[in-house]
Amino acid sequence: MNSCHDGPCKIELTGITKGFRVNGAPLKALENVSLHAAAGEFVSIIGPSGCGKSTLFNIICGLLQQDEGQVLLDGHAVQRRAGSVGYMPQKDLLLPWRSVLHNVILGPELQGQDAEAARREATELLPLFGLEGFADAYPALLSGGMKQRAALLRTFLTQREVLLLDEPFGALDALTRMELQEWLLHVWARFDKTILFITHDVEEAAFLSDKVYVLSPRPAQVCIEVPIPLSRPRHRSVTFTPEFAALKERLLGALSRCP
Ligand SMILES: Nc1ncnc2c1ncn2[C@@H]1O[C@H](COP(=O)(O)OP(=O)(O)OP(=O)(O)O)[C@@H](O)[C@H]1O
Ligand SMILES: [Mg+2]
Repeated sequence: MNSCHDGPCKIELTGITKGFRVNGAPLKALENVSLHAAAGEFVSIIGPSGCGKSTLFNIICGLLQQDEGQVLLDGHAVQRRAGSVGYMPQKDLLLPWRSVLHNVILGPELQGQDAEAARREATELLPLFGLEGFADAYPALLSGGMKQRAALLRTFLTQREVLLLDEPFGALDALTRMELQEWLLHVWARFDKTILFITHDVEEAAFLSDKVYVLSPRPAQVCIEVPIPLSRPRHRSVTFTPEFAALKERLLGALSRCP
């Protein structure tokens, strides 16, 4: 039963189960995973390494087929989901032979949209993504944070209402990571997207999200759904409050007690 208040959830997963065969032996990655996000919600998913988080995203975007369960978008089981969600995979690589501008318009280009219009829109958004002046630069010249922002701009430019972001800040230093978290909240508020966000970091999950799902070790099951009732817009100062400390404690406790 979902609790997206007015009408169907933007995205809803019900009873998703998925197994693989590895060297002939069965390996269950996901066990009866149900979760949902309302339109415009920021929802994080945390869980131990290898529990099945990326597998879940691969299923949501249609790259993998689940064994059981359903993925509903706006209340409907969409078959061709690859065209319905924007996906930034965990190891998102910018193509080294294409400039920043040509990397970020890859989505519209592959969808056969007007390339000139896509270039114009991307160029207008470069400053917001901290890439002003780098349209013609090649990825090798960018810092780690800039590469992630370029990959995020590419995901935003897919014009999808639901975005799946798989540990987008995982490889960055703490300061850059904090900067990008605040920036992502700003961009999310401006574009009115529904975001599902995978992270290992409970502080990141609590700071960004409206709600956090804690998954168990493999096969991933939802252990608990934790609402994050902090007001928005959020500033870093919220992370120094007792309320935030209590939320972090709750998430860490759930992670460690999850069977
Ligand atoms: N295509 C595949 N074939 C076989 N096994 C797979 C495949 N994809 C994933 N797995 C296995 O499924 C399990 C879950 O992998 P997944 O990448 O979803 O974990 P994860 O939670 O994203 O981990 P991490 O936090 O390290 O990114 C792992 O044991 C992995 O080896
Ligand atoms: Mg992963």
